[in-house]
Amino acid sequence: MAEKPSYYITTPIYYVNAAPHLGTAYSTIMADVQARFRRSMGYDVRFLTGMDEHGQKVAEAAAAHGMTPQEWCDSQAPLFQDLWAELEISNDDFIRTTEDRQRAAVQYLWERMRESGYLYKGSYDGWYCVPDETFFTDTQVAKANEGHEGDPLCPDCHRPLERIKEESWFFKLSAFQDRLLALYDEHPEFVQPSFRMNEVRSFVAGGLNDLSVSRNTFDWGIPVPFDEGHVTYVWFDALLNYMTAVGYGVETPEAQAELARRWPAQAHIVGKDIIRFHCVIWPAMLMAIGEALPEHVFAHGFLMVRNEETGQGEKMSKSRGNAIAPREVIDLLGVEGYRYYFMTDVVPGSDGAISFARMRQVYNADLANSWGNLISRSLNMSAKYFDGAAPARPDDLAAFANPLAEIAEGLVDRYAEKMGAFAFGEAAAAAMELIHTANHYIEDAEPWSLAKDPARADELAFVIYNLLEAIRISAHLLAPFMPATSAEALRRISCADEAGADDLAAVCTWGGLVGGMPVEKGEALFPRIAEE
Ligand code: ME8
Ligand code: MG
Repeated sequence: MAEKPSYYITTPIYYVNAAPHLGTAYSTIMADVQARFRRSMGYDVRFLTGMDEHGQKVAEAAAAHGMTPQEWCDSQAPLFQDLWAELEISNDDFIRTTEDRQRAAVQYLWERMRESGYLYKGSYDGWYCVPDETFFTDTQVAKANEGHEGDPLCPDCHRPLERIKEESWFFKLSAFQDRLLALYDEHPEFVQPSFRMNEVRSFVAGGLNDLSVSRNTFDWGIPVPFDEGHVTYVWFDALLNYMTAVGYGVETPEAQAELARRWPAQAHIVGKDIIRFHCVIWPAMLMAIGEALPEHVFAHGFLMVRNEETGQGEKMSKSRGNAIAPREVIDLLGVEGYRYYFMTDVVPGSDGAISFARMRQVYNADLANSWGNLISRSLNMSAKYFDGAAPARPDDLAAFANPLAEIAEGLVDRYAEKMGAFAFGEAAAAAMELIHTANHYIEDAEPWSLAKDPARADELAFVIYNLLEAIRISAHLLAPFMPATSAEALRRISCADEAGADDLAAVCTWGGLVGGMPVEKGEALFPRIAEE
């Protein structure tokens, strides 16, 4: 058997300055849905997430809690790990930048960078945004603060800046302008969705400043191996995590083989706030050390909340303290409803305002009234008319008109194309077409009337078989969004062993249901919730 192709997908590693919130979870669930989908398509998936533990912001959060940075990070790790487990995140690895493997890889990177000739020592005199861990030049700050009185604010997040003047190592980012522009021309798919490319390209076309990559006025970072007193700038450390986790810098044959198999990554999922780091700095770093570039950086928009003081929408963030806890949504929709809602109703490209009313609406319409209803009605009828079992598979799958088989034809292809492109809303809508058609089919076919007429027993069996078959296929298509309820739906129709199948197209072929097996009615999978 041919070896499965590798699919390596990552999330940002999150700063450990506060507990994760809906925004953080959004990126992580998005990567998880893609990872699960790819597994169902026969890829050998490697899915990485983790925590970004160094830098000034984390050090300040630790101090504010009266802990050392390491104690603080250790105390926060379970918040992230437990939430990911609860949200059914299927990551294969969880990296923490304070681990030995990251220190070793970053120090290895420093040596390679020094050899590359793209490193020099200088002095940094400019602005620094601690919440964003980003340097800004006088020109950038002046331009962004035109007309603003008082202390200058961050051009990106509009929070106060710090003035920094210190000795620093620099990465010669400016030398990569032409190569980066060529990358964007030759690989327009590098940045996704495509409309984000403009921002990246014009930033680079406007000229690049060299990047300060070490700090020597504080010490919560990975030491620069050849310059005592300098620690690695947190982003220079953080970006490398994607390679550390697959063996970078480890010279054993196993690690080298893993690196060769996994790198370059297929997809880095990020929010649009960190697109420059991933689409400008990261590829330039890789070019400098002669490593391959990731295939895609997928940058989604922000989940927004209303600031009650200003009435304006603003990005939900840990450092702004305006975060909504995932618990609130889990309590309302359950984990599966939560995942389904955020992945299908929030367009991944653009910013999305949070609305609990909309969450209830989508949950009730799609999950309670459509998918859940289809399952309970069909399983009830099957159990009732066929003595706790499914009807046998009809000898002729085209004996009667069958709108469900028609819809199912080509459905997986359409769905897979959308899933692969992170168009999760459209992919779920494709699955919902089958579900809606199946619910209409029940109304049209009236199994309860057929059941009264012994002469139409074949037709009754045909209809119920089709409904169960539609459930089986829908469960597979919805599984990346809602793994547990899909597995449960399959279990109730005695197809538990199909859950986690790695050949989606084959498993979703119409007529795959054996028929005659036990069927279990069970409780409602998606109980309706009250709309206010
Ligand atoms: O930037 N809406 O970490 P971070 C949607 N450590 N997504 C959001 C969001 C929101 N309101 N708020 C946060 C860092 N996110 C670095 C990353 S990677 C090598 C280092 C998500 O804790 C989104 O993915 O600030 C965003 O890019 C990320 O969290 C930033 O997390
Ligand atoms: Mg941030």
